[in-house]
Amino acid sequence: MLKAIILIGGPEKGTRFRPLSLDTPKPLFPIAGKPVIQHHIEACVRIKELKEILILGFYPASQMQQFVSNMQNLYDVNIRYLQEFTSLGTAGGMYHFRDQIRSGNPSAFFVLNGDVCADFPLQQLYDFHVSKGEKALVSIMGTEATRQQAVHYGCLVLGKDEEVTHYVEKPRTYVSTLINCGVYVCSMELFARMGNVFHSKQMDYNTLNNGNGKDLGHIQLEQEILTPLAGTGLMYALPVSNWWSQIKTAGSAIYANRHYLALYKNTHPERLANAGLKAAEDSNGSLVCNIIPDVHIHPTASVHPTATLGPNVSVGPGVVIAAGVRIRESIILENAVIKDHTLVLHSIVGRSSQIGMWARVEGTPSDPDPNKPFAKMENPPLFNNDGRLNPSITILGYSVSVPSEMVLLNSIVLPHKELSRSFKNEIIL
Ligand code: GDD
Repeated sequence: MLKAIILIGGPEKGTRFRPLSLDTPKPLFPIAGKPVIQHHIEACVRIKELKEILILGFYPASQMQQFVSNMQNLYDVNIRYLQEFTSLGTAGGMYHFRDQIRSGNPSAFFVLNGDVCADFPLQQLYDFHVSKGEKALVSIMGTEATRQQAVHYGCLVLGKDEEVTHYVEKPRTYVSTLINCGVYVCSMELFARMGNVFHSKQMDYNTLNNGNGKDLGHIQLEQEILTPLAGTGLMYALPVSNWWSQIKTAGSAIYANRHYLALYKNTHPERLANAGLKAAEDSNGSLVCNIIPDVHIHPTASVHPTATLGPNVSVGPGVVIAAGVRIRESIILENAVIKDHTLVLHSIVGRSSQIGMWARVEGTPSDPDPNKPFAKMENPPLFNNDGRLNPSITILGYSVSVPSEMVLLNSIVLPHKELSRSFKNEIIL
């Protein structure tokens, strides 16, 4: 049998996702109507030998409990959250919880970074790993990036038979355009490698160092395990051309939303409210409004028949969308209210936010450069070198209120703010 581990980090990670991560942990932010890591879980449950999914992070368990119990009810595999007492890095947590991972004698386990989104080809990666025989300790899903962007990722150089001969994590200069997607199959023998790193760190700590501020159990999978494995004949990479992207900034959520909606056409057409199809998951088959595919509308949302939604829009539970509203390339979160004739483009409207009538809420898309093959999304910081806000999608945090007839362009509004005028290129604190 097989297991899967989803690495989700903790509250002090994911800062570029603010203000959306202020009230919802980033791994639980809804994209295409489902929390980010539910898409990982759905990919895992498609593997029939997979019996347990362990979510590993340092968020307080109270923030994950409800989600885990919802998932446990939905899917027929064991799903648990294991909380690290502090950040243990991308491998330290796995080593700390090794007994839980090994229990039941799995033959191998998947590791998935929780902050990527993809059409996860897990079966293909597993078959690839098995085809490399007993010697393979790790198989990595790889994809192409541009020369300029590759240095922001783990870079892989392949030799004969897809063996990884060289691995450099975020190199200073160009190494290769084949990058690590943060999706792996690992053999159980990998724990011995982690153990060696763990024990050598304890020795260092006792004899030489005074630590580096990190816990002694902190181990970085990429630098401390993968880098030394390269060139030993024990690590392989499968280059794939499937859709894949990171979820670092709020802008990447809009991009991921579009792709997950497109994937639903094959995997879950019932989740789409496409033209000519039923409007929402449990509706009676009639169209509720004008739909330009792809659109997801939660069954509890109420949308006026004269509204036009799409392409690439997700509408959350309890949302109210009034007459003549136009929304495209956007995510509208739980219980938001959008009043008559308002326009929302390239934006995320926070939970319980309210937008008045005849308003315009608009952001700038941050898609990968369509003219560069293999381009990935840029993850720009909020401000440029002149201290100005970089153009971004517009984000309304939790419970923001935008009065009627206001225009909000390329702006980020923190939770609970009641705007009294129009804004452009501003962060509204
Ligand atoms: N449990 C746990 N504990 N998870 C962690 C911790 C930790 O201490 N630190 C990070 N993670 C999780 C993050 O939440 C994320 O899902 C994943 O591990 C990777 O974390 P980062 O440290 O942010 O790395 P990165 O995203 O910059 O780079 C990694 O992913 C790239 C692909 O997205 C590397 O693996 C790169 O090589 C890779 O290209």
